[in-house]
Amino acid sequence: MNKKPSVLLIGATGYLGSYLLKELVKQNYSVRVVVRNPQKLPQVENYSYEVVEGEVTRPSTIENCCKDIDVVMSTVGITRQKDGLSYMDVDYQANVNVLEEAKRSNVKKFIYVSVLKGDKMKGVKLCAAKEKFVDELRHSGLDYTIIRPTGFFSDMTEFYQMTKRGRVYLFGNGQTKMNPIHGRDLAGVCVSAIDKSEAEIKVGGPEVLTLNEIAYLAFSASNKESKITHIPDWIRLAILKITKTFTSNKTYGPIEFFLTFIGLDNMTAPKYGQHTLEEYFNSLNQ
Ligand SMILES: NC(=O)c1ccc[n+]([C@@H]2O[C@H](COP(=O)([O-])OP(=O)(O)OC[C@H]3O[C@@H](n4cnc5c(N)ncnc54)[C@H](OP(=O)(O)O)[C@@H]3O)[C@@H](O)[C@H]2O)c1
Repeated sequence: MNKKPSVLLIGATGYLGSYLLKELVKQNYSVRVVVRNPQKLPQVENYSYEVVEGEVTRPSTIENCCKDIDVVMSTVGITRQKDGLSYMDVDYQANVNVLEEAKRSNVKKFIYVSVLKGDKMKGVKLCAAKEKFVDELRHSGLDYTIIRPTGFFSDMTEFYQMTKRGRVYLFGNGQTKMNPIHGRDLAGVCVSAIDKSEAEIKVGGPEVLTLNEIAYLAFSASNKESKITHIPDWIRLAILKITKTFTSNKTYGPIEFFLTFIGLDNMTAPKYGQHTLEEYFNSLNQ
């Protein structure tokens, strides 16, 4: 029987990365993680992976991290972190630092998590940095797979929090469709990419829902009467302009991505997985 490839995972302390770590260990891959704060690692049954402390933004701290590794997986990127670093510092350069190590150690494959339609939104700072790395990866000479997911369930938490405050605010008429995905389902897709040859995998969750339907599910989970305010879309565009002019890049970046993403007509990707948003919202209520 062929030996399973050894995997280096970076981003294991994040939402998706923690599910990936559990899935890799469950499937008996030999796993190494590079993290800056091991205390943030999730509890994994039968703890059996190697932990290396390092900062992917500082190449000297990750030297030889890819030694004896066959496959690198990266979910590293700025979502809510407030480190004072830019998307170019993290989503692009930190991943390049790992890619350089991967090339040096003759890693066979690099699996990178970008975003759905990131290649169509290169005017958005977050996507520009991610897609710059995607281009770097395409020309690296390594086998690679770019994972392009829709929104994660973790990001849908905001709907639930709005229902707890009594009202959900949506831009436009709320009819935009999306199929958000649970981290556990997405981790399964990423791990199965190890043995696949696709250069790109677009993926979403099992249910396509309008933003209004997502809000109703959240209201039902929090046992609150449904109250939705639809804000005209021109206000979304005005906020984008105003925040670009009057806020720092650090504040503007996440707002720019969020307001551009929710302005897309269609945020759906091929369906995958079993976990429903209803279950997820109910779990938040417990
Ligand atoms: N959330 C979504 O809906 C969504 C949708 C599509 C794609 N994505 C992309 O999928 C990827 C994973 O998302 P996620 O929600 O799992 O993100 P997350 O929970 O914020 O995890 C991000 C990971 O990146 C690491 N990281 C961030 N800044 C770092 C820095 N300066 N130095 C070292 N490590 C750093 C974090 O480490 P620490 O724990 O040490 O901070 C963490 O392990 C991201 O690249 C994101 O852009 C997200």
